[in-house]
Amino acid sequence: MTEIVTAFAPASIGNLGVGFDMLGLALDGIGDRVSACRTDDAGVTIVEVRDLDGKLHLNLATDPEHNTASIAAQALWNDYGDDGGVELGVYKGVPLESGMGSSAASAVAAVVAVNELLGTPVSIERLLSYALVGERYASGGMHADNVAPCLLGGMIFCPRVLLPDTVRLPAPDGVSLVLMHPELKVDTAQARRKLAQSYSMEQWLSQQGYLGGFIAACAQNDIALIGKTLRDVIIEPQRIAVVPCFKAVKEAAEKSGALGVSLAGSGPSIFALCEDSVASDLAAAMEQACRGFDIECQSWVSSLHAPGAYVES
Ligand code: HSE
Repeated sequence: MTEIVTAFAPASIGNLGVGFDMLGLALDGIGDRVSACRTDDAGVTIVEVRDLDGKLHLNLATDPEHNTASIAAQALWNDYGDDGGVELGVYKGVPLESGMGSSAASAVAAVVAVNELLGTPVSIERLLSYALVGERYASGGMHADNVAPCLLGGMIFCPRVLLPDTVRLPAPDGVSLVLMHPELKVDTAQARRKLAQSYSMEQWLSQQGYLGGFIAACAQNDIALIGKTLRDVIIEPQRIAVVPCFKAVKEAAEKSGALGVSLAGSGPSIFALCEDSVASDLAAAMEQACRGFDIECQSWVSSLHAPGAYVES
């Protein structure tokens, strides 16, 4: 019988506000699946791309040169595959252009599935470099803040200067994540091209202080310090114009007890960290503020310990 391996990879939040391109968090309960089976034809192909409801995906083609799943899997196959090939099925649970790490989830699920099919020649940590090949195609950058938490789970610090090594941050106790996805789309590669290339000493000092403080807050389990340091004074102000509900949603979240609020990746999704007890009310407040702009939305509450990618069958 033909062996089919299916892997799941979660959605993720890049930047986590305070750590542009170097801090990310995996989400519970939402992600992509990729199945892989061997074929006689050489190389990696995609047989189908479907939404979770089973319908053929309207916006993603099966052209293996234009899908992060096949691009990442091909990089792994080049190093460890044989003369045959592998056929992928891609099942999208993460909305496209949502700021929820959709391209990373497909790339990660693909390399995890193909690695299993090959008898796991590569450790989970070393799969990062292969998944990053897919992410670079999608966003035009070599940043791991979606791919690393998606692969490894939890909260990961992954500055480019340390890659392929990454650092797992201890998640503070009693803190939840709320993610609200307004039904808008932001193209990450385009959003990245628009960012300023140089910044003032003042901005650099502030952001470095917030990032250092946030990491210390996680290490010391200091919730009040998270509230003081989960800030992005550099990237967020440049990106919020394309998310008309951002300011109102942020204000609503803050009034409902958020410790900090920012864009997820390049947006349009907006996330907040908060104490567990207020998470569901906070999600409701964020949704209400978003709908005030006639923008439909959906939200998720997640722990900060969501598992990374895994083989399902
Ligand atoms: N760090 C990335 C960005 C995440 O904000 O552009 C999205 O790929």
